[in-house]
Order: sequence, then C-alpha cells, then structure tokens
Amino acid sequence: NIDLRVDSLIKLMTLKEKIGQLNQYSGRDATGPATDKKKFLLDDIKNGMVGSVLNIKGVKDTREIQALALQSRLKIPLLFSLDVIHGYKTVFPVPLAESASWDTLAIRQSAHVAATEAAASGIHWTFAPMVDIGRDPRWGRVMEGAGEDAYLGSVIARARVLGFQGEKLGGTDAVMACAKHFAAYGAAIAGRDYNSVDMSDQMLNEVYLPPFKAAADAGVATFMNSFNTLNGIPATGNSYLQQDILKRDWAYKGFVVSDWGSINEMVTWGFAKNQTEAAKKAILAGNDMDMESLAYKNNLEKLVNLGEVKVEAVDNAVRRILYKKFELGLFDDPYKFSVQAREDKVMHDKSFALIARSVAEKSIVLLKNDKQILPLNNAPAKIALIGPLVKAKQDLGSTWTVYSDTTTYTSVYEGIRDKYGNKSKLSYARGCDISDTSSAGFNEALAVAKEADVVIMVLGEAGYMSGEAKSRSDICLPGRQEELFNLVKATGKKVIVVLMAGRPMIFNSIADKADAIIYAFWLGSETGNSLANVISGSYNPSGRLPITFPRAMGQIPVFYSYANTGRPVTEHSGIKYKSAYLDLPNTPRYAFGYGLSYTKFGYSDIKLDKPVLLGKDDLNISFTLTNTGSFSGSDVVQLYIQDKIASVVRPVKELKNFAKVMLKPGESKLVTFKIKPNQLSFYKSGTGWVTEPGAFKVMVGSSSDDIRLQGDFMVQ
Ligand code: IFM
Repeated sequence: NIDLRVDSLIKLMTLKEKIGQLNQYSGRDATGPATDKKKFLLDDIKNGMVGSVLNIKGVKDTREIQALALQSRLKIPLLFSLDVIHGYKTVFPVPLAESASWDTLAIRQSAHVAATEAAASGIHWTFAPMVDIGRDPRWGRVMEGAGEDAYLGSVIARARVLGFQGEKLGGTDAVMACAKHFAAYGAAIAGRDYNSVDMSDQMLNEVYLPPFKAAADAGVATFMNSFNTLNGIPATGNSYLQQDILKRDWAYKGFVVSDWGSINEMVTWGFAKNQTEAAKKAILAGNDMDMESLAYKNNLEKLVNLGEVKVEAVDNAVRRILYKKFELGLFDDPYKFSVQAREDKVMHDKSFALIARSVAEKSIVLLKNDKQILPLNNAPAKIALIGPLVKAKQDLGSTWTVYSDTTTYTSVYEGIRDKYGNKSKLSYARGCDISDTSSAGFNEALAVAKEADVVIMVLGEAGYMSGEAKSRSDICLPGRQEELFNLVKATGKKVIVVLMAGRPMIFNSIADKADAIIYAFWLGSETGNSLANVISGSYNPSGRLPITFPRAMGQIPVFYSYANTGRPVTEHSGIKYKSAYLDLPNTPRYAFGYGLSYTKFGYSDIKLDKPVLLGKDDLNISFTLTNTGSFSGSDVVQLYIQDKIASVVRPVKELKNFAKVMLKPGESKLVTFKIKPNQLSFYKSGTGWVTEPGAFKVMVGSSSDDIRLQGDFMVQ
C-alpha cells in the first residue's frame, strides 16, 4: 500500500529533507533564465536536498545523477523530467499540427512513442501535454496546444495523457505526464508570453478549464502552474486555482510543480515583497514543487519555524511527490528507467519513423485545391521547388526537439525526389531567406519557375519562431516570401504552396492566387515523406483546422464560438450600425474545422431520436455520410449545438462531438452521435453549471462554417 509506505517515510524525514523533496533543479540546459547553482547542485543532491532534476537525459547521465541521490541519508530517488513535447528521438508533428488530425488514436500513439523513447533514456516525467486553449495566434505557444476549442482540446488532452502514461504509471515504456499551464495561460493579453490574464468565471470554466479537467480525469500525474496572473493573482500563488478548483473540487491527488522561476516572479509581479513571502504564498496556494526558484530551499524551514507555514502544508506537498516516486517503482529500483540495453534497442527502433509519417500525413491540412490540381498523380516532367524551406531540416522540428538528430529528417526536397524518382526532373531555387529583406535570389527563382511544368513553393516561418517566448506582433509570412510568391505566380505557372509555421499565419495573396495550398505546420522528422505522399495522392488529406485563421491581425482574437451580439452582420444587411469592421468582413480566412479532401462528401437524412429531452435522457442524432467523389478518403464530421435562449448569452455554435470517417468512393455510412444532458449545460457565475430548459439547435457539418444538416430539439 503506497499510502502506508509514504507515511512511514515521511515520519523518518527531517524538515530539511522534506523541503529537499520540493526542490527541483535544472541539470544541463536552461529552459528559463539560469540560476547560478553549479557550486552546490551536486552536493545538494548528495545531501537529499533535491527532489527532481529537469533537463537531463540519457541512461549514462541519469544513472550518474541518481547514484548521487542514493548517497543521501534516506536514499530517496530523484525524478528526472524533460520537455518531451512532440517526440524525443523520433520527432512528431508539433501538437497544434497533430490536433489538426482530429484523430485521438493517432495522437495517443504519438505521445506513447515519445514516452517510450524518453523512458528508455532515463526520463520519468514529461512536461506535457500543454492543454492551454489558444485563441491568439500571436502567442508563440499556440503551437504546443490543441487550438481554440474546449471540446476538441479536452479529448486531445485525454489522448495525450493516456499516450504518455500508458496503461498504468510505472511501465518502463511510459512517463508521467504534466497538464500545463494551470491556468488560462493561452489568454495572456496581446498574445505576449508571461503576461497577465483577465477573464470571467464563465469563460474560465467553459473554455479554459475543461482540457485540464479532462487531463485530471484521465489520471494525469502532475500539473504545472503558469507564469500569468489570473484576474490579478499569479497562478503560482493562486489558491482559487490550485487549492479550491484542482485539489478540492476535482479531488486531484497528483502534485503541482511551478513553472521555471515562477515563485520568484511573484516578487517581480509585485505580489510578494520578497522571496520569503513568495515561498509562503506559493506553498499555501498549493504549489508543491519549486522549479528553479530556490525559494522553498531558502525560506521554507524558516517559515515553518516561525509558524507562518504549518509543517502539515509541507508534508502534504511531500506526500504527493513521494507517492508518485513509489507509483513509478523508483524505491524498488531507482535505475529502472536507466538501462543501457533498453536505451540502445529503443533508440534504434525503425517502426517509430513509420508511425511518425502516418501521424504527419494525418496532420496536413489542404486549404485550397483549384481545378483539382492536386494530387499530382501523373508525374509532371519538370517540377520546380522554390522557397527557403524546400531543403530545410532543422526547422521542421520547430522547438522542443530535445534529443533528435535533425540531420536525419526528410526535407520536402528529399521527399519529392524520392517519390517522383527519375520520372520528373527537379529544379530548385531558394528565392530568399525566411526573414530576409534581400531580393537577390528572385531572378534565379523566376528562371527556375519558367522552365517548370508545375511549381511547388515551400514557405513559412523559421522553426525557432514558435514556442516559449516566441510571440510575434505580425503573423504575416515573414520577410519577402509573399512577394516572391507573387512574382513566381505572375509567370503563369501552376503554383502549389506548402506553408510551414507553428501558428496560423496571414498570407492573403497566396490565399487568393495560389492554385493549391497545403498547411503543414511543423511535421517533424517525416516531413518530406508525408508531404510527398499527400502531394502525389498516396495519402488523401484529412486534416481540419483546430484553430481559426484570421484575414488580418485586427481580427484577433477570432474564433468560431462567438456570441451573436445584438447587431450581427447578415449577408444582405450591410454594416451600418452593425457589429462589423469598415474595412474587413467578420469572417475568418479559414474557419475552425475547415480542410479539404481529394474527394467530396454528401450529408443526408438527419434524424433526432426525440424532439424533447426529459431529465437524464441522451439525445441520439444520426445522419448518412456518403463519399460522392472518386478517391477513398476520411471526412471529419462535426456536431455543433446552439442553446438558443438562456439566462447567459450562449455562443452561436459549440462543438460537442466529431468523428473521422473513412469511406471508399460511392460508399455511405450511418453516423450516430450521442449528446448527454451535461453537454447542454453552461457555467453561470455564482451558481455553477446549469442546464436550462428551452430550445436548442443541432448542426452537423464538415467545418464550423460549412453546416450541412440541422435539427431542433427542446429540453424540458
Ligand atoms: O515546461 C516548461 C514550461 O512550459 C515553460 N517554462 C520552462 C518549463 C521547463 O522547461
């Protein structure tokens, strides 16, 4: 019984040793402003003053460091943690890209491969998944989340937690997961990292918390709090979030780690007068482990001795951490994850690359395909590849590629070369650099384009432009890339554009003029192969946008589940005295849920099994989906509802379910969805979750702006 083992260990511990368990140091690389602790790091570990080390990897290093911890009086093993965000050695698409697959099995499998590789390399714990809802593409970290929607974000959070953690904590093919950043970090003002958040209770509960709740329900081992304030209170010192919601209401049993230095940052915010007060506020608010602030190490003993923090608060935090160490089996074998033979074997497992390729294919979104220019299934005689990302490798993993060898990634050039072999003659011009102001390469690009039958341009951001501290005020295609596109297109050639980025970008002339557009986000090590499979038609694209793409920066934030307003714009009413812009439609460039396929799908015969829902009844909705085109392919059918009249204004649409359905040409399938009564509820400030009687609309479509079938029902 783990509880008994934890309790008896706590009884043996001195206060100093308890505080040691709450202390987390970075080992090798810094993923935040570094503290100077080289002098005492190793001694602190030997003396049992450290509970966890982050940023360390590999069997050799983890064994060495664990051996030091085992020299301590009580021989409590360390937890090794790392940001394994989208793969470890095998690099998968970034989380936003994977979310575009709307394929929870694929996402779960990707997380599991990442965990298997990391666990074989001595890692016990990943700081993933990031389950922050992202509605502001300026924020560099939208790349690490599942996009804008609470429902999609929740099912993906669950899939990732189950993937990382496997069946049961303690398997050496899995690691502990960490739901971060608790909470509402995605709503940082102006999309700027580390910034404050102001948010209603309704928005917090309906949009930003559900993926965290889903992660907790899926058994996520840990939570990380965040750098932002929420309505004036830093998340790290926020009792409402950590004590009331997480540990009381959700009865969460895992532990909470701070973000890097975020306890100290409460002083900079002006929320604590010094590190001592920050440490006190953090522990009392429910922050269990201190990442890199050294605030607990320096202050907790004094605070307990002065009676300002009860020893029970420390015990509580220690208990949560030790419990996880027992659950992982580290007390029975502290080197369980650090076995050389397993590392050697797992790191050479070739099957992972095929899984990464398949996940990458599923993550690709086809945004435009005029006159069915794609797929290029008959090899064109001459293909020109133009753009700064055609031969890119390192960029393809974007950020948080902590172990992999980027030289082994397949570039788009290599993917196309391998796919079309000697059937097509390839030519290449870089054209310009990503952020370059020079046009020196334009002429070469034009010459190459003029000679070709078809041009494939690979454009986008640099890989480093996404991730932590990578917010951008301008999310247009960087540098002169759009100008390069315009020149190439003016040659009259057919131009297929592949766009790479960790966020939605704005690329209006490409959207207007390109013959086809493929949004690849960052696809990881199998980029070239997966894109070549989509371009050639070996894989029929099935990705759908998990986040809205704006037409212009001024529309941000723009998302599908907006409220109607009292003066909505309807197509024929003009915009005078309406909720509109003088210079721009309200609609986005590409809507949430949008994505094309090489085939077409027909929707028919919607049926609701009852017109009126009573009490605990479920509503069953069914309809027929038919592949009316000539390719086999998958559609992502999406179910939205609208609560038409309520005591709190409801969004025009809310996603409540979806299914990815594969059909052969001419094939039909009956698709059924269930809506549970609690899916019709909303959060009312001061009251909590309520379902009100009244009229509802149900909508089924292939994207949030392409509703094909509708029905009405009442709740009584
Ligand atoms: O896990 C990350 C977090 O998301 C941002 N700050 C640093 C942490 C550890 O690397």
